[in-house]
Amino acid sequence: MAMSRDARPGVEGLFRDMADNCARLDAPTYADLSAHVADRLPTHEVLQWMFEPYADARIADMVPLRFFAAVQRLCLEREAPGLALFYATLGGTPPSTPAARDACRAALLDIVEAHAPALARGMEWFPQTNEVGRSVALLAILRETVDAWGLPVRLHEIGASAGLSLRADALADAGVVPAERPGIGPGPDIVERVGCDIAPLDPFRAEDRLLLTSFIWPDHVERFERLRRALDVAQEVPASLVAEDALRHVRALRLVPGSVLVVWHSAMWMYLDPQERHAIENALAALGATATSDAPLVHVALEPVSEVAGEQHVFHLRVASWPGLGEVPAGMTVTRATATPSGLPISWTVPCVGAVVHDDRGRLLVIQRGKEPAKGLWSVPGGRVHAGEPFSAAVAREVREETGLDVSVGDMLGSAASPAPDGATYDIRDFRAHVVGSPVPRPGDDADDARWVGRAELRDLPMAPGLLDALAEWRVLPTAP
Ligand SMILES: C[S@@+](CC[C@H](N)C(=O)[O-])C[C@H]1O[C@@H](n2cnc3c(N)ncnc32)[C@H](O)[C@@H]1O
Repeated sequence: MAMSRDARPGVEGLFRDMADNCARLDAPTYADLSAHVADRLPTHEVLQWMFEPYADARIADMVPLRFFAAVQRLCLEREAPGLALFYATLGGTPPSTPAARDACRAALLDIVEAHAPALARGMEWFPQTNEVGRSVALLAILRETVDAWGLPVRLHEIGASAGLSLRADALADAGVVPAERPGIGPGPDIVERVGCDIAPLDPFRAEDRLLLTSFIWPDHVERFERLRRALDVAQEVPASLVAEDALRHVRALRLVPGSVLVVWHSAMWMYLDPQERHAIENALAALGATATSDAPLVHVALEPVSEVAGEQHVFHLRVASWPGLGEVPAGMTVTRATATPSGLPISWTVPCVGAVVHDDRGRLLVIQRGKEPAKGLWSVPGGRVHAGEPFSAAVAREVREETGLDVSVGDMLGSAASPAPDGATYDIRDFRAHVVGSPVPRPGDDADDARWVGRAELRDLPMAPGLLDALAEWRVLPTAP
């Protein structure tokens, strides 16, 4: 079980956590080597010396990752051929037999003993990864953005590392990454590519290329190849990278008539404290308030869904735009896809709706679900959107099918991402609606029961998880007692 980012489990615990993560993320070589370092730490003097400064390190300090990257730099510099033999990314064969695993472990400890001071210095480098698989999600949204606004794109990335995602279009054109959903909209005309990072890397500098490459896990050959090819593409497609904090960068952004500004980030939100995140969101909302259809703003993020243990490895692609797009109001965030930490594969969310309907006594319309998910629990009427159906039409149809009531559909109140039983994720968009005609509900379709409830009854009903919190946040709980 993964630990929280602030946990301080001791160096041995850090390596056990790394072993768990590697096993989960299909990296058996590091899983085995991490477990071996954890096993040997109590008695191995050189390991103890090297990790002494990190006795109180947090999971978030990523000490094992820094150690393995320092080791891999020696492999890449041809200083550790005995270990490179086992690294698939370097042309080696991953150890798959007990004898090969023993040899691989021994090769690692040989390097530790031969290069301890260099490794200790190398571990001072904080992990720097630039995962180009994540640019696939960005490109899909850029295509939709161009389709929606018909404007050239100014692309700004915060926490850009080496700025590889700023070349999302060129990476797809060169076949480095797949072009996800190529049917949606034309390729974007990107007229400005700017990234900021507190420690930017330069794709033209050999040391920076080495550093980035060293953080790829040796079993992940595809990621390694993608990165190498992306670094080449980056040299063909100029982008400017500034050494600047994300908040400062966002605060300085301005909209330019005749172009859409897309602000993108991936795998960097966890490095910001809550105040910084809030300040960035506020700065974007303030900029968004000045947006027009001739100078729109789009915020696209691919970030872990939460930092709760075990959930850090699910990333959500979230999008907000100013002015609003389609039926989504300005600045409202919707979850469009989920992805692994490397960005691939992407799983697009299943569009769903919910209806928040009050009667003239201030009661809320609820149904008891007759099917999974949440069978037997109470919820607002709603369900899946049919292909090509506008969200508001789906709201009216679902209310009619589940309660027999006719409604007129109003504004979208908010959205929630919720796990679907088949491993997919629902993108549930809730709309306000008003009954037109008879207010007497008759349950049907997916609903076993339908009724109007006041606050007291709502409190007593077993509700679908998260619904009451969402209704409270949107201030649409029933006003009737
Ligand atoms: C895990 S890397 C992700 C890089 C890239 N976005 C990607 O998805 O491959 C996180 C990056 O965020 C940068 N970073 C962390 N805090 C930052 C801040 N306050 N402002 C700007 N960049 C920051 C780090 O230097 C690092 O390059």
